[in-house]
Amino acid sequence: MSGYLVEDARKVTTHRLREMKDQGKKIAMLTSYDYTMAKLVDGAGVDVILVGDSASNVMEGNTTTVPITLDEMIIYARSVVKAVKRALVVCDMPFGTYQVNCTEGMRNAVRIMQETGCDCLKLEGGEEIIATVRKIIAAGIPVMGHLGLTPQSINKFGTYAVRAQEDAEAEKLVRDAHLLEEAGCCAVVLEKIPARLSARVTQELEIPLIGIGAGHEVDGQVLVIDDMLGMDQSFSPKFLRRYANLSEIITDAVGQYVTDVKNVTFPSSEEEY
Ligand code: KIV
Repeated sequence: MSGYLVEDARKVTTHRLREMKDQGKKIAMLTSYDYTMAKLVDGAGVDVILVGDSASNVMEGNTTTVPITLDEMIIYARSVVKAVKRALVVCDMPFGTYQVNCTEGMRNAVRIMQETGCDCLKLEGGEEIIATVRKIIAAGIPVMGHLGLTPQSINKFGTYAVRAQEDAEAEKLVRDAHLLEEAGCCAVVLEKIPARLSARVTQELEIPLIGIGAGHEVDGQVLVIDDMLGMDQSFSPKFLRRYANLSEIITDAVGQYVTDVKNVTFPSSEEEY
């Protein structure tokens, strides 16, 4: 294991996430959608790899997560699972695969587990989907919740602005978080909500809360890998920290290759058979 700050090389389980919260150890989570990236992310010591439906944006060029299908998510998740040795692999259930009714949600959950080999599923929402969450967990499938800005509902929200700033929405979020914990969720993602609210939820719940744009008083953080590596300079929300500038590195490398091909400086005699 060539990672950073990896104290425990064993495979991360949902129980380990809970232990990490109890021991005050922060959880590092990132998305991945393909074999090669997942291998790098896992090797660098990330605890949880999310095969997010953000694949709809960053892999497929859609403006929302709504269009991505179950079949597409299964292909991404299967590739990630093949690469990962240590991290817990969580797969998003895409829009429309769990909102219709419990039976359909259950059937789709089973399909993802059987066809990808992932460790856990993530569903967006609270009270509205709680019966489905209970059923999936009762079948032995770990579930991670997702509250606050839930991108699958973007057409209802109409904006990607910070959620739960008003008291009524904040109180509903706290109730939803408790419901998800009582239903048996292993963790909950809190997206783009005031830091004070996520700190309150983190204190009230025993399961880990993992934030994205939710401040530092949570049990862990998650970012979209393409965003934190600087693949798209046009996307720069306040919460995003860029750890690399890959768009520049890739553009420079590809530009150099094009120049070399045009000038016949590639391949050289040493690169020929
Ligand atoms: O799909 C995704 O990448 C996510 C994260 C933003 C939490 O749900």
